[in-house]
Amino acid sequence: MSTLLEQIDALTSESLAEASALADVEALDVYRLKYLGRKEGLLSRILMSLPRLTGDEKREVGKRANALKVAIESAVARRRQVLDDVRINAELSQSKIDLTLPGTPVVRGGLHPLTRVMEEITDVFIRLGFSVAEGPEVETDDNNFTSLNHPPDHPARDSHDTFYLKEFTDGAGRPLLLRTHTSPVQIRYMRTHTPPVYIVAPGRVFRHENVDATHSYVFHQVEGLAVDTDISVADLKGVLTLFAERLFGGQGTVVKTRFRPSFFPFVEPGLEMDISCTLCGQKGCRVCKGTGWVEMLGSGLVHPNVLRAAGCDPEKYSGWAFGIGVERVAMFKYGVDDMRLFYENDIRFLENFA
Ligand code: PHE
Repeated sequence: MSTLLEQIDALTSESLAEASALADVEALDVYRLKYLGRKEGLLSRILMSLPRLTGDEKREVGKRANALKVAIESAVARRRQVLDDVRINAELSQSKIDLTLPGTPVVRGGLHPLTRVMEEITDVFIRLGFSVAEGPEVETDDNNFTSLNHPPDHPARDSHDTFYLKEFTDGAGRPLLLRTHTSPVQIRYMRTHTPPVYIVAPGRVFRHENVDATHSYVFHQVEGLAVDTDISVADLKGVLTLFAERLFGGQGTVVKTRFRPSFFPFVEPGLEMDISCTLCGQKGCRVCKGTGWVEMLGSGLVHPNVLRAAGCDPEKYSGWAFGIGVERVAMFKYGVDDMRLFYENDIRFLENFA
């Protein structure tokens, strides 16, 4: 028995000495098998003579053999840790990646300011329960003018500077045109829906105007239309004032509105809404031209002739409508004084809104 113990002790010092010299992970596996392998391992071989010992001796040898096993396992674990560290450090010192360098910036785009303002305006009305409607940019003379209470020779047609598509005509032989406002959507919608109607219609419109800082051939409007029983000017004022507060107010900015009588053939009475200049707090500035007020939109109660033309009984229903100039709102909101900037798509300009 003493020789067995001596053999185990010898094996212990031999194996532990060997462990610290193991050069790689594969060698660790070979090493483990060499000492602890079930059949061929050196410890198993020594223990083959175990059955010849007495009970006490067996216990003593068993204990020591177990200690050897534990010692070898932990030597393997320690060595594995050392080898891993060496490998990782070698990899790190060789790699060319400088983790302290800043990353490649991701350039983020943004919606065009006009798209943004148009969506903001539309959103205010969606929250108030309005739906979104759309109409085509090429319109009939009837939808753009006649049904909107501009009879064929009405002088108000002149003020619209219309682009006509001479080679294309409608069923009545009248040339089609590029819509000069979003109001024809009122007609289209009323003809296909029965009241109550609460819609907004954002879109592009066209006028053959002299282009300058506040005029363009193409611009944008958001039309609004409410048709129901018992509609009054009070509804119009209430909703449009709320709209102005939602769009321009908040964070301590108070927005006031005022309504001035105005003329549009398709409404009666017609009202233009001004809002208090939030840029100068009504002290007077370049944008409000010293008046403290900025013109925001045209509106009014829908003319009975329009209701009739669109198939709505004016005895039963009444309505109000408005048309907001998107460019005008965007210029005011962002303090832009030349409308042409919105169409040039100069990236230096657009980046301010990203
Ligand atoms: N369509 C009118 C315009 O383009 C605006 C407007 C719409 C006015 C609805 C009153 C009611 O000038």
